[in-house]
Amino acid sequence: MKCTHRANPLTATKDGLYCPAHGSRFDLNGNVTEQPATEPLKQFKTSINQTSVIVNTNS
Ligand code: FES
Repeated sequence: MKCTHRANPLTATKDGLYCPAHGSRFDLNGNVTEQPATEPLKQFKTSINQTSVIVNTNS
């Protein structure tokens, strides 16, 4: 969960993700809702089994 502006770690909010460094916001699909970031967040395919969430970082 890194900001696409300058790779600062993001904080989850009730309706998306927030970057405390410069104030960018992203919706739950990773789209920019407030700049200075202009690029959407990277998305990864995921799956769930009985005990784990698996994130495919090759997608
Ligand atoms: S690093 Fe996130 S807004 Fe600048």
